[in-house]
Amino acid sequence: MLKAAQVREAADYILGKTGIKPEIGLIMGSGLGILGDHIENAVVIPYADIPHFPISTVEGHAGELMIGTLAGRPVVLMRGRFHMYEGYGPDLTAFPVRVMKAIGASKLVVTNAAGGVNTNYSPGDLMLIADHINFQGHNPLVGPNDEELGVRFPDMSQPYSKRLREVAAGVAKEQGFSLQEGVYIAVLGPSYETPAEIRMMRVLGADAVGMSTVSEVIAANHSGMEVIGISCISNMASGILDQPLSHNEVMETTERVKSRFLGLVKGLIPL
Ligand code: 6GU
Repeated sequence: MLKAAQVREAADYILGKTGIKPEIGLIMGSGLGILGDHIENAVVIPYADIPHFPISTVEGHAGELMIGTLAGRPVVLMRGRFHMYEGYGPDLTAFPVRVMKAIGASKLVVTNAAGGVNTNYSPGDLMLIADHINFQGHNPLVGPNDEELGVRFPDMSQPYSKRLREVAAGVAKEQGFSLQEGVYIAVLGPSYETPAEIRMMRVLGADAVGMSTVSEVIAANHSGMEVIGISCISNMASGILDQPLSHNEVMETTERVKSRFLGLVKGLIPL
């Protein structure tokens, strides 16, 4: 079956469950799915029920779609996302983004936890993603192009909306904190990087490193969505501090800055 037909089937299934047509898609990273608790009149749909939807396997990711209102606007939230390190191809990690677009979302907010590559960063910082480097060795658009979904060679000269970054900077200022702004580099994972790899990434211009977001953002740009990306710097990347990295530290830091992070995302709406 063509990708566009699969997207349509998934979208029809979801629209059959709710009268709400979301304007904004939200993909929350590790430990941030709690945003779902702030959604009103939520309809919750397990990924497993949605035709052609992949199913999430990582701890801390619930694996359901929530549709409802946030700050008065209709939104669709992915609680739990798909990573290539779980074994999903990049086209599957991007599939939910296409479905969000198909049910009405023209804007996308993506968040993640990332390691700080820029030595001026500290764990707990929030970073607006200004641009990215795709180091995952693949692209979700590989294969026959479905013109119904987007053009063969999509422009990527402003993958993260400058307008939305300015809105976010204003919201943060209002709420009394500052944001970093930098380049996110995505790797396949699941092992963290070596110190030599992190030194290389710094030379290449990366400020933060993670294992998600990029294939979603490529698909969103292909779909013509306006995107904002925010990383929570959960830990310093390998070789910066004299200590090993652990997923526990990632979860602890996201827990610590969760309320600030959620305040920022909510404050962004209506975008
Ligand atoms: Cl240091 N590396 C990667 N690849 N992902 C991360 C991370 C580091 N910290 C949080 N997520």
